[in-house]
Order: sequence, then structure tokens, then C-alpha cells
Amino acid sequence: MNPLPLTPLPSRGISPGKAILFGEHAVVYGEPAVVLSLDIYTTVEVHEATGGTDHRFQGDSGAWRRNPYLQEILGKGSSPPAGHLDVRVRSQIPPASGLGSSAALVAPLTAILRAREGPVDRGTLARESFLAERAAQGVGSPVDTTAVTAGGIVAVGPPGREGEDLWTIPAVEGKGPWTVRRVPDPGWTWVVGYTGVPKQTGRTVNRVRQRLQETDGPELLAAFGSLARAGEDALRRGDRDAVGQCMERNHALLVRLGVGHPRLDQLVGAVRPHVAGVKITGAGSGGSILALPRPGSELAAARAIARAGGLAFRVRPPPQGVRVEPLPR
Ligand code: MEV
Repeated sequence: MNPLPLTPLPSRGISPGKAILFGEHAVVYGEPAVVLSLDIYTTVEVHEATGGTDHRFQGDSGAWRRNPYLQEILGKGSSPPAGHLDVRVRSQIPPASGLGSSAALVAPLTAILRAREGPVDRGTLARESFLAERAAQGVGSPVDTTAVTAGGIVAVGPPGREGEDLWTIPAVEGKGPWTVRRVPDPGWTWVVGYTGVPKQTGRTVNRVRQRLQETDGPELLAAFGSLARAGEDALRRGDRDAVGQCMERNHALLVRLGVGHPRLDQLVGAVRPHVAGVKITGAGSGGSILALPRPGSELAAARAIARAGGLAFRVRPPPQGVRVEPLPR
């Protein structure tokens, strides 16, 4: 994949969001997942800070210390800045919505810092962004940071399946490695709906870990895995109905895992008449749903979510992931 070019400061990094189509939670334990990047964006601008004694974030000196991701990258990352930086972020991705807001901050900021020194290989960017996000959250898989770095649609999972390999993320603390493969985009429009209930990835992942220790845990994990493989195959065939059915089955598994929420149920119920399939996307227990509308029903699906009180986006996977471009000095 095309590397990011050498880009001195000041510069701007732009990242898409993401939605997990199949395999959230199970991917933490090495099962495969399929992830869409989304054409809703976070933009990060970095200037060298003149004067002052600390980095500035959103115009405030020292505010970066209250953001765990910035703390990780500016304070202890593998490429810490030499001087003080002025970091400004604006985003269309609601925070804590399950739509990749943290990956879409971490990956472009990491890319900006790296690209000051030379061209950045996307596999390296995905690995470093994953380590920064995981260090800040304390848990997690590389799916989010990989999806926003790669753009389009990717499958992330154990090595060995056929497809165009993009890169591998090495194992961390006994989890992984994860191989990343490109999945061709069938060109559909998707609809995501944010409940307005912020999800808490760390807490939910920890609750799921306990749930998986029950007797049906291994069977549940295996069911997620075979569903993700069947779903990926259906996506490669461009079979909308089969993808929708796999989404519905994935949703049922997530509910069994205990990551449902009454607001998620409301949005799922409201959108169902318009879709081939709908599911919780991401950590759950709040956050968002992902729906695959029937052809021509995209607007009706988005309206149904809005009428049920959700924040709806009609989205497509952009072919390009994170990019960095120079700003005028
Ligand atoms: C978060 O977007 C998805 C989870 O599978 C956690 C992870 O993979 O890091 C719940």
C-alpha cells in the first residue's frame, strides 16, 4: 500500500472512522473480524508551538495531559516530539460512539509525528497506532487502528486465509498475531446510528472476558469466528442478503455476550423494516448500530434511526485511509 510521504510541520492528518461488520470482541481473542472504514472524518493539525513551556491542545497549555491518547503519544510514544507542539483536533465522529473516534485521533497524530522524519509505511503506522491506543485503553485488538490506516474494508485475524495480505500485527501479551487482508468493497451504502449513550470499551471488554469464562464461552467464540468467515465470503460475492443474515446472527451473539442496551434495541427495531441486516457495532452496551439498507432504502433507514432518537450517518468506506498533508507555514 502507498506509504505516507515525508511531511514537515506544520501539517494536517485526516482519518476516516470505522464500523465493525463482523467479529467485535471475539477478535480480541484471535478470532477473525471484518471492518469498514467510514467517510466521516477526524482532522488533526499540528504546528510547532512558539513560546510557552508545554504542548497546547485545542488552544490550552497542558490540556493534553487530560487526554489518555495524547498523553501516550506526546508523553511516551516511540517518536516523542522534540519541541512543544500545538495540536488542534476537529471531528465528525462522536466520541465514545463505537465509530472509531480514538483510532481516528491516534493514527493521524502518530502519522504526523512519524512523517516529519521520513515516509511512513502503513503497516508500521498501524502497529504503532495500535500500541498507543492499547496502552491508553489498557485493552483491545488492532482492528480500529488498522481499519482507519488501511481505508476501504479489511479482514483482521489469524494468518492463513486467502486474500491480499496488507500487513501483520505482532502478538501482544499472548494475543495475536493478527494478519490484515484487503476485502474488495461491493460499493454499498451503509447506515450507522449512534444511540447517544457513550460506550466504555475498557469496561465492556473486561466484562466480556468474564462472560467468556462461562461454560459456553469457547462455543460462543467459535461461533463468532465462523460467522465472520461466512460473512467475509458473502461480502466478497457481493451477496447483500447473505451479508445481512450474517449481521443478524452476529447481533444475536453480541446480545448473548451481554453487550446489548435498551437504546440499541430501539434503534435496531426502528431500522429493521428498511434493511437486509442490522447489528450492534463495536464494544456495545451503548454506542452504535450498523445497518445494511435494502437498495434504495438508505434514506428511509437513516430517517427511521433519527425518528427513534439516534444520530444517523449514511456512510461508505473511503478507498483511502489516514493521510497527511502539509499546511502553509
Ligand atoms: C472496539 O471497537 C471493538 C472491540 O472488539 C474491542 C477491540 O477489538 O479492541 C470490542
